[in-house]
Amino acid sequence: MNNEFMNKKMIELRCSRCGKAFKPDEIVYTCDCGGILETVYDHSEVRFEGKDMWRYGDLLPIKSRTKLYVGGTPLYSFDDVNIMLKDETRNPSASLKDRASAVVVSLAKALGYKKVSCASTGNAGVSLACICASEALESYVFVPKTASRQKLAQLRAYGANVVAIDATYDECYDICNSVSKQKGLYNRNTAYNPYTIDGKKTVAFEIAEQLEFKVPSHIFVPVGDGCIISGVWKGFKDLKACGFINDMPILIGVQAEGCDPLARGKEEFEPDNGTKTKAESIAVCRPRNGFMALRDVRESGGHFVTVSDEEMFDSLKLLASKTGIFAELASASTIAAIRKEKSERRIDKKDECVAIITGSGLKDENALELLEGENATA
Ligand SMILES: Cc1ncc(COP(=O)(O)O)c(C=O)c1O
Ligand SMILES: [Zn+2]
Repeated sequence: MNNEFMNKKMIELRCSRCGKAFKPDEIVYTCDCGGILETVYDHSEVRFEGKDMWRYGDLLPIKSRTKLYVGGTPLYSFDDVNIMLKDETRNPSASLKDRASAVVVSLAKALGYKKVSCASTGNAGVSLACICASEALESYVFVPKTASRQKLAQLRAYGANVVAIDATYDECYDICNSVSKQKGLYNRNTAYNPYTIDGKKTVAFEIAEQLEFKVPSHIFVPVGDGCIISGVWKGFKDLKACGFINDMPILIGVQAEGCDPLARGKEEFEPDNGTKTKAESIAVCRPRNGFMALRDVRESGGHFVTVSDEEMFDSLKLLASKTGIFAELASASTIAAIRKEKSERRIDKKDECVAIITGSGLKDENALELLEGENATA
């Protein structure tokens, strides 16, 4: 791969399992051992300039920004709920995934690809389609047929080539990998393309900057494949290596009771347990970034919390009615987890908790149905 356009501060990629190092132009996706690759930067003289996520170009694989404004989202404090909320619903396609898509699409363009693919429970695909549309690239998105109508509609509106399959997300992921290989598509799949985590880490940079580099004690992250949470950890690790922060936050991974492999410390789930949750974005039986997510949560001194669909729905309503932020069920899981941790006294009043509100409720069909159901019985 010709990498002239790559950020020279990215020194190498290192395998998260076996530690093998690669030059950025030596490898495109994962290590021979199957391990996911992590970026390694020269952390000296890092400067942040500009407004949206491209402000962090010194710590991204490529600096050429995309047209749409991605990142630069607000961090709100609400006394009523005594937490800080990072509102990622404000991204162009209304989820945090735009941060990863922006980096990957920027790279795809520079590498000369015209077509980019991914498998998705919904948001990642929608996000890829959105950023590709704005950069005149074609997107190919593999989603379960059961993905929410709103997300499917969004995909079609952005002009994506939608492959809606009668399969689970886990199966779509494998299909996407083999089709992309066959057809020569640049593959954005999470935990396969090494740069999605780098895009996602920019949310951590923003949280730290918004708090003037005073690191919050706890960060609550909804976990499906486990890439967002590893992105958050990578972001704080980069900041520490640059000397911008002294402390590290404790990471709390939040999973649905009906699909909680990582909370059980497993990278895989018995298939017959299925994905019994309405929180589709975290309905992942085989978390592709499980190894790294478990490592990162452990390293942070944190743990996983599971919440029921009912708790997520209650928290979705609480969040919307107290703050004006309408989250999807998966994102509201963070609020449910904070409430649980408080009631079980694992966190107290002096702890500064950030909940990452990863995606909008407006495109969560299950949440919309639950809300309509409430209205009917009111
Ligand atoms: C809104 C939202 N929150 C959380 C997640 C979970 O992220 P990850 O799969 O990286 O753990 C997703 C993934 O699709 C998502 O769309
Ligand atoms: Zn390896």
